[in-house]
Amino acid sequence: MAFISNRCQNSTTGMSKQRIFSGVAPSGNIHIGNYLGAIKNWVKLQDECDSIFCVVDMHAITLPRDPEELRKKTIEVAKIYLASGIDLEKSTLFIQSHIPEHAELSWILNTIARTGEMSRMTQFKDKAELHSGNSSTMESVPLGIFNYPVLMAADILLYDTQVVPVGKDQLQHIEITRTLANRFNKRFGNTFIVPEPYITKEGANIMGLDDPTKKMSKSAKSDYNYIALNDSEEDVRRKIKKAVTDSGSEIVYRDDKPALMNLINIYSLLSDKPAKEIEKQYKGKGYAEFKTDLAEVIIKFMNPFQEKMNDLSDEKVLEILREGAEKVRPIAKNKLDEVKKKIGFVL
Ligand code: TYM
Repeated sequence: MAFISNRCQNSTTGMSKQRIFSGVAPSGNIHIGNYLGAIKNWVKLQDECDSIFCVVDMHAITLPRDPEELRKKTIEVAKIYLASGIDLEKSTLFIQSHIPEHAELSWILNTIARTGEMSRMTQFKDKAELHSGNSSTMESVPLGIFNYPVLMAADILLYDTQVVPVGKDQLQHIEITRTLANRFNKRFGNTFIVPEPYITKEGANIMGLDDPTKKMSKSAKSDYNYIALNDSEEDVRRKIKKAVTDSGSEIVYRDDKPALMNLINIYSLLSDKPAKEIEKQYKGKGYAEFKTDLAEVIIKFMNPFQEKMNDLSDEKVLEILREGAEKVRPIAKNKLDEVKKKIGFVL
């Protein structure tokens, strides 16, 4: 697959900034994979792009959630954005369910999306299996899991998004977004911008610490799978100590050492040191020393991050999110009105 790293164009050429849009679902344990695969890139891109970031709570309810927990997680995700360095001078933050246009556009796009397209989505297959415990029993799988990519397409298309910075697991969903945009444009005339994914190589797919063949996952059964962004220093040391490694004892960055590659990627992204340099640094040294240092690199990132999170009050964050919704509301309304006119709704 291609790793796309097209930057947003600046206005030096007289062109307006490109718009980026992305989001995290407030569910499960938000982990360093979410940060390294997505949020870290948002922080970088916000300097050059017109940036909108959403807490996608409507996506979180595709599986049953405790309502109180969902409310708490929604605010927590916004705090994660802010503690990561999302700057309100450059970016707008809001909660998806505060803008009902997402649901309305999603319904309209449902009428042009195809069941075959949805059933081929890897995440649908995985989540359906998680829900039913058996991929052949689809009868009880909620419809929301099935057509969730249509809601994601609505999120993106509603804001004339040009670039969507995400991890690799979302690539299929961006592709379906592109398909739906093109299909709508063809049938009703040019309406939607066809967005591009933005995925960086090293952070694209942070793997599980307990199984480097599967991605690090918010909903993993074992907490040894991930480093959650609210883990304590002790959690970090315990989990890294236990992280699966490859056979052999050298610290090398090679395709045949997937566990090490993953750990070196995490080390490299958090310390801004290239993988090759890390390899050199640990030449002749063993896993124990490398792992001890990796835990400290993670802790060095987490300490100030968690301090910033703790400094943010729920009230302040909710105020920021409500203001953000007021800022994006006219964009969403204009686009939805355009869509409604094109398809023949009476306004
Ligand atoms: P979500 O909440 O599962 O994940 C949030 C972001 O984290 C990335 N990510 C990872 N990156 C690297 N390694 C991993 N192991 C890893 N796990 C997750 C995801 O790719 C994502 O970028 N459907 C989306 C949320 C969404 C969205 C959108 C994103 C809804 N509407 C519109 C962009 C634009 C999701 O469930 O992400």
